[in-house]
Amino acid sequence: MTVEQVKWGLAPDRARSREHWDAEQEVVGPGLQAVMLWSQLCVDHAEGAVLTDLDGNRVVDFQGAGGVNSIGHANPRFVAAMSAELTVAPAGAFGSAARREMAENVSAFLPEPFDRMQLYSGGTEAVEAALRLAKSVTGKHEFLSFWGGFHGKTMGSLALTAGARSGLGPLPPGYFSAPYANCYHCPLKLKPTSCGFACVDVARDVIKQNSTGALAAIVVEPVQGRSGNVVPPPGYLTALKELAAEFDALLIADEMMTGFGRTGAAFAFQHEDVVPDILTVGKGMGGGYPVTGVVSTAAYMAARPFSDPSASSSSFGAFPLACRAVATTVEVMAEDNLVEHARKLGAEMLAALRPLAEEAPLVGDVRGAGLAIGIELVADKETRQPVSGAVLRDTFLALLEAGVLVMTGGNSLRLYPPLNVETEMAHEAVDIVRRTLIGGPR
Ligand SMILES: Cc1ncc(COP(=O)(O)O)c(C=O)c1O
Repeated sequence: MTVEQVKWGLAPDRARSREHWDAEQEVVGPGLQAVMLWSQLCVDHAEGAVLTDLDGNRVVDFQGAGGVNSIGHANPRFVAAMSAELTVAPAGAFGSAARREMAENVSAFLPEPFDRMQLYSGGTEAVEAALRLAKSVTGKHEFLSFWGGFHGKTMGSLALTAGARSGLGPLPPGYFSAPYANCYHCPLKLKPTSCGFACVDVARDVIKQNSTGALAAIVVEPVQGRSGNVVPPPGYLTALKELAAEFDALLIADEMMTGFGRTGAAFAFQHEDVVPDILTVGKGMGGGYPVTGVVSTAAYMAARPFSDPSASSSSFGAFPLACRAVATTVEVMAEDNLVEHARKLGAEMLAALRPLAEEAPLVGDVRGAGLAIGIELVADKETRQPVSGAVLRDTFLALLEAGVLVMTGGNSLRLYPPLNVETEMAHEAVDIVRRTLIGGPR
C-alpha cells in the first residue's frame, strides 16, 4: 500500500468522529495523551501502519502508541493466534501451551546472560518490580535516574522521573537525579567530542553528595523517549555501568520503548559493548496487548524477597493471552527479520529527515536509532529555546492533516512506525513530514 492510496482526506467536519468523541467525553476522565486530545481521532479500523477513522479518513500511524505497534495493527498472524487463544485461555497464571511457547521464543530472542523474565501488564508496574529486584539483590534502597527520562507514574517510577512530579509530593526518599547525556542541550555547555563524559562525573558527584551509602541501582533509558528520542553518545551506558560498579550498585536499562527491536538492535544496550543487570521491557513486545516484563538472570532473580512465593507476582502477570501475545510477536519479529528491517529503514529515514535541521524553520535537531526518531522543534536555532505548546500542537495537526500521525514529547515530534512498515510507505510518509515542516506550521 502507498500513501497515495492511504491519503488522509480530512473531511471538513468529521461529523461521525466528533459526535463519537463528544459522547465518550461524557464519561471518560481527563488527562488523556495530548496527541489524542488534539487529534480527537476515533478509529473505525486499522491495518499495518494505517488507521481509518469513523468518517473514512485514513492516516499513516507513526504514533504507534509510543512504540507499542511493533508488528502492525491487526497483523493477521497475531489476530489468528490471539483469537484461537481466547477460546482456551483461562484467567490465571497457570502453566499453559502459550506460556511454554513464550518462554521458548523469548529465550531464543534474549541475549546472554539474560535467561529469566517475569511478566506484568503495565510499564510502570514492571519498573516498580525492577526496583524491588534491585533492592533484593543489593540489600540497598537508593536509586539514581536522569533528567528528561520517563519511567511511569506510580510512586517509585514517578520518583525516578525527574522534572514531572510537580504537585505530586511527597515522594519516597533515596531517589536522586543527574543530567542525561543530551548533547544538544548539554547542561554543562560542553562539546560531546571533547567532554570526556563530564555528565557522568556530575552523576558521580550527585551520588556522593546525596547517598547514604545505599545505592541499589542506576536506572537509565538507553534512548530517552519522552525527550524526543535522545540518543546518548557511544560509550555512555558503559560509563554508567562502571559508575554503578564504583558504588556496588546495579545498572537497570529501562528498555520499555527501546527493547524488542525498536532501535534496530534486539535491545538498545547492544549498540554498545555493555550488559546491564536488569532490563524492563514492554510496549512492542506484546504487539498491542498490554504485557510488560522484568528481565534478568536466574542468579539475580533468586534474590529474596523478590523470589519468595507471591512476592513478584501480579493479578494479570503471565496470563495465557499475554503469553500468546509475546510468543506470537517475537515469532513474527524473528521470522520476518524485523530487527534488521528497523535498523536499515530507520537509517534511511533518519538520513532523509536530518537535513530538516537546516531546511525547516522550526527544526533544531533530528536524531534517533532504528525506528525511534525524534525531531526537536525550537523557537530559535541559536539559543535552542523550545517552541510553545501551541506551535507544537499546530505542527502536529498540520502533519496529521497532511497524512501522518506522530507522537510528541516535550517540544519534539516522535516517530514510531511499526517495525514491519513497508519501505515505500515509510519513505512517502517521510516526504510528507519533510514538505510539511519545510512549509512551516499552518
Ligand atoms: C521508558 C519507559 N518506561 C516506563 C514507561 C511507563 O509505562 P506505562 O505507561 O505502561 O506505565 C514508559 C511509557 O511510556 C516508558 O517509555
